[in-house]
Amino acid sequence: MRTQVGIVGAGPAGLVLSHLLHLEGIDSVVLECHSREYVQERVRAGVLEQNTVDLLAQMGVGNRMKREGLVHYGIELRFNGQGHRINFKQLTGKGITIYAQAEVVKDLIDARLASGGKILFEVDDVSVHGFEGDCPWIRFRKSGEQQELHCDFIAGCDGFHGICRPSIPDGILTTFERSYPFGWLGILAEAPPASHELIYAHHERGFALLSMRTPKLSRLYLQCDHDENINNWPDDRIWQELHIRLAATNWKLTEGPIIQKGVAGMRSFVVEPMQHGRLFLAGDAAHIVPPTGAKGLNLAVADVQVLANGLTEFYHSGKTALLDNYSRICLRRVWKVQRFSWWMTSMLHRFPDQNPFDRRRQLAELDYVTSSRAASQSLAENYVGLPLDFGSD
Ligand code: FAD
Ligand code: PHB
Repeated sequence: MRTQVGIVGAGPAGLVLSHLLHLEGIDSVVLECHSREYVQERVRAGVLEQNTVDLLAQMGVGNRMKREGLVHYGIELRFNGQGHRINFKQLTGKGITIYAQAEVVKDLIDARLASGGKILFEVDDVSVHGFEGDCPWIRFRKSGEQQELHCDFIAGCDGFHGICRPSIPDGILTTFERSYPFGWLGILAEAPPASHELIYAHHERGFALLSMRTPKLSRLYLQCDHDENINNWPDDRIWQELHIRLAATNWKLTEGPIIQKGVAGMRSFVVEPMQHGRLFLAGDAAHIVPPTGAKGLNLAVADVQVLANGLTEFYHSGKTALLDNYSRICLRRVWKVQRFSWWMTSMLHRFPDQNPFDRRRQLAELDYVTSSRAASQSLAENYVGLPLDFGSD
């Protein structure tokens, strides 16, 4: 089998890349190890930056998002039992859209398949070869049969646990990493969200977040141990803890049947460079942010926009200037987003080794962020998404 760009992974990065390339007349094949149903049902991100929303709309995959997405112009930071709104509209003129990652993935798969795109689900034994030369190929098995996909470039969009990053020879990549001594227990509940905007709550028992998927579905998170056993959290205990951490005067959390729950670890992770020869890493394959800034999906989409531009330039003019600069362009944004995600995480969570000084400092930071226009504006401009910069400086 032959294509121009072989893409490993049908997450947001791989699917957006494949569709952007298609719009430029560039052929690609996406290889995915899970089933279509699995990738469409995976409960993950929920917050889309304006840049992501605009791109999906320009790509022609934004109709359902525009109809069903919930546009928010602020978030609430809650501490000491009091809420403080950060008004994005006033501070930046922009907003965010709440639309589940699973829905974005569904819309992208539908669009790819409707326009004749090739996505091979349930492939296994995927390995990447020859990317230090001009003719790379991907070996994989589909329905028990060994196959090869020959291509000009490989896009490693296979997430943090994928095979592309580890296939780069030793000594090429430098890893920058920080893990956090806690995780997030997340639930999806059939309950109308108790607030029409997201609430990030700092509490001495730990962080809590109220988010949502639709006007009838709440998405809630609790800071928990990084190796928390979900079996220690029967539904009653989850609600009890959410009530305590989110408590505020004249406000009540709405409860409903819990239809999904899980624990996710938290880490900050970056590899440099994000490319080697004709293998390009994008999204979670190259970097992970803790979810407190709601940035992972948006960062993945920003990477593949740069990559699609570089590949388009190559196929249309033979120039490699943008491709050569892919890492450099992406990493500038990646590090700013890493900083923001780390900062939100540090400000809002309880750290096991923190002393009373650290706690007072966290509260002072929250007080500052919610009372100074300059500080709220900094939070707001990062949260709604920094401008995309495809330039080389
Ligand atoms: P992935 O979505 O991980 O996709 C990679 C794909 O590659 C997967 O489909 C995987 O099955 C496939 N794959 C892996 N290995 C192979 C292989 N060997 N062969 C073939 N295919 C392979 N981000 C936000 O922006 N906003 C949020 O609000 C937010 N909230 C989050 C909440 C939680 C609980 C979690 C866990 C994450 C959250 N994120 C959020 C992060 C976001 O979900 C990820 O950053 C995003 O999925 C990255 O997209 P990706 O395409 O790079 O990787
Ligand atoms: C979510 O709705 O899943 C969500 C929202 C905001 C975050 C992280 C996750 O910061």
